[in-house]
Amino acid sequence: MPTDLWTLQTTWNYPTTVLFGAGSARKLPRACASAGMRRPLVVTDAGLARSELIAGVLAILREGELEPGLFGDVKSNPVAANVEAGLAVLREGRHDGVVAVGGGSGLDAGKVIAFMAGQTRPMWDFEDVGDWWKRADPAGILPIVAVPTTAGTGSEVGRAGVITDEATHTKKIIFHPLMMPRTAILDPELTVGLPPRLTAATGMDALAHCLEAYLAPSFHPMAEGIAVEGMRLVKEALPTAVRTGSDLAARGRMLVASAMGATAFQKGLGAIHSLSHPVGAVYDTHHGLTNAVVMPYVLQFNRPAIEEKMVRLARYLALPEASFDAVLNWVLALREEIGIPHTLADIGMPADRIAEIAKMAARDPTAPENPIPLDVPALETLLEKAVAGTIA
Ligand SMILES: [Fe+2]
Repeated sequence: MPTDLWTLQTTWNYPTTVLFGAGSARKLPRACASAGMRRPLVVTDAGLARSELIAGVLAILREGELEPGLFGDVKSNPVAANVEAGLAVLREGRHDGVVAVGGGSGLDAGKVIAFMAGQTRPMWDFEDVGDWWKRADPAGILPIVAVPTTAGTGSEVGRAGVITDEATHTKKIIFHPLMMPRTAILDPELTVGLPPRLTAATGMDALAHCLEAYLAPSFHPMAEGIAVEGMRLVKEALPTAVRTGSDLAARGRMLVASAMGATAFQKGLGAIHSLSHPVGAVYDTHHGLTNAVVMPYVLQFNRPAIEEKMVRLARYLALPEASFDAVLNWVLALREEIGIPHTLADIGMPADRIAEIAKMAARDPTAPENPIPLDVPALETLLEKAVAGTIA
């Protein structure tokens, strides 16, 4: 806690209307109508576009007397061209809002498409830098309803979308407060089809959000409370969700943990994400999987600054011992149980571009939020350990 608390000025943001429960996707028409939509554009990942799930969403919207369109040309790790193509479909169909359905890619692309609908400046002008978001015309932002089909990103309760800049191989955050969906629908039935590997990887993203938010040094006790309960839900539910995908109680808990992680990380993230962003941008590795791989190395690196908080966390998670090592060992055991590889080499990152990746990580917007200041040499050492599998 900062010692000069009486001088602190800060802003805390809380999410939006959340409809939770198995079958709650049937409430979509009501959510769209209350956001003022009649002709929503459903935006989703390429992998889902022709699925029964999306056919079901479109049917629900039509039954609710709405006139939906569909845009499904969104890559995993969406790029600017996906946003452009979606905007063309949105304008062509005179759509008045976006229903973003999917994993992080579909949700982020849908949110950015709704945001860009009425903007005159290019998208990169709205990167999350300083107060660039004030450049946007708020009247040009269409309403959004978000329906996650994975439990990890929490983008359904976030005010930003991550788009990859292909020219520079960097992931850029497009931010505006009005990109917060009017309603988020957390329906565990929509996540039961997620295969075990993706359930594990996305679930570890939720854990990374809660863990980094909790450990970030800024003062935000409300976010901290949400983060620790999010981690408890992951501990309780992730192994079951991976093992028994049809378990709606585990799926539901993971969806809530995911939304909680994204609510909490306004407090800050840290080196897990600073490393994962460039590794993902250069090697196209899965975001949650990359976070899961680097997590124990980053905890060990941050140890001198987080020891006391890890003891508190161990108590809350009811681990066998109240210590840093108990949390580290839980993370290692969880990774093993759900089939997460141990090293960056195992997920396709060789050691030959460590210097370059470390420079990118140092520039990542999450780097200054890490409990221990990050510089390029420290990040190089961290990457070397994560490639080789050395935790100590
Ligand atoms: Fe993340």
